[in-house]
Amino acid sequence: MTTSLPKHLQDQEGLSEECKNFFSVLPKEKGWMGSYIYNYQGFWASPRIIQGVIACQQQFQAQDSDIILVTTPKSGTTWLKALLFGLVNRVKHPIFEQNHPLLIKNPHDLVPYLELTLYVDGQVLDFSSFTTPRLLSTHLPFASLPKSVQDSKTKLVYLCRNPKDTFISMWHFANNLILHHKDTNSIEEMFGLFCKGVSFYGPFWDHVLDYWKQSIENPNKVLFLMYEEIKEQPKLHLKRLAEFLECPFSIKEENCGVVDEILRMSSFKNLSNLEVNTTGKLSTGEENKVFFRRGEIGDWKSYFTTEMSEKLNYIIEQKFQGSGLKFSYI
Ligand code: A3P
Repeated sequence: MTTSLPKHLQDQEGLSEECKNFFSVLPKEKGWMGSYIYNYQGFWASPRIIQGVIACQQQFQAQDSDIILVTTPKSGTTWLKALLFGLVNRVKHPIFEQNHPLLIKNPHDLVPYLELTLYVDGQVLDFSSFTTPRLLSTHLPFASLPKSVQDSKTKLVYLCRNPKDTFISMWHFANNLILHHKDTNSIEEMFGLFCKGVSFYGPFWDHVLDYWKQSIENPNKVLFLMYEEIKEQPKLHLKRLAEFLECPFSIKEENCGVVDEILRMSSFKNLSNLEVNTTGKLSTGEENKVFFRRGEIGDWKSYFTTEMSEKLNYIIEQKFQGSGLKFSYI
């Protein structure tokens, strides 16, 4: 029974016959939350999400000024949404202002997902309430981005995280959402799927490598960030982000503590303790608190056996060799 799961994570309930026929020819595997996930354009997702993806690919018109945050699921999207919002809107919403939007809304409500929120369930979209630049987000692989995103000057901020912590975070997240509906997924089974590439928007390695290559080929369009690097040097990376988005901090702002305050406001400690994030829910149904678990590097060590660690190391070595990309803390 999955009826109380967020709609985009449910399986085929409520889909038309035409949609069911469409999915019946796609490769499918056991899902992490619903019964099955399907392979569409080379990545794995639930039917609801794939519907959102198709609508978004057909309808979304990017603007040159758009900023789109692209992440691998569970890589710290919530954190980067908060940082981006605080950074880009610091003139309209000075970071020291009382009732700053980050204090009263969850970052996912401030920087909505294209295919998971805006284009889900064929909603007719009105972007008139968005201010410029529009801050949007997606988990889509590069090749599946709407064409207008690829063709425009839209900036893409990409975030990933070491695959071991990503996997543990994803496993907890999935179990958290399905907890009240059925037994939780065993770590062994989900690890097997992850290693086969069967995870939300996976294979993980393809997702990361495509954006890594794009960031090298087109550094003005794609900024490639890692969770661990931001954790280690938050100030440096926030300033890097500001420069990439062509809204660098002035010396006066730095001296007045604007950079530090954006970091403090977006920190795990601050966000996870806000009332909106302890008691609120997203429009898509998830409780806000599920996006805050531990927020640390290296939690995988509490869960991985030596065999699991060696297996994933081997896959990482195979997939990323020659790319120049190195994950830390693995
Ligand atoms: P853990 O499950 O390892 O704790 P996403 O936002 O992409 O769904 O990723 C969720 C992960 O980011 C969770 O990791 C969550 O705890 C962590 N996270 C959320 N907010 C954070 C913040 N402000 N700073 C650092 N990590 C954060």
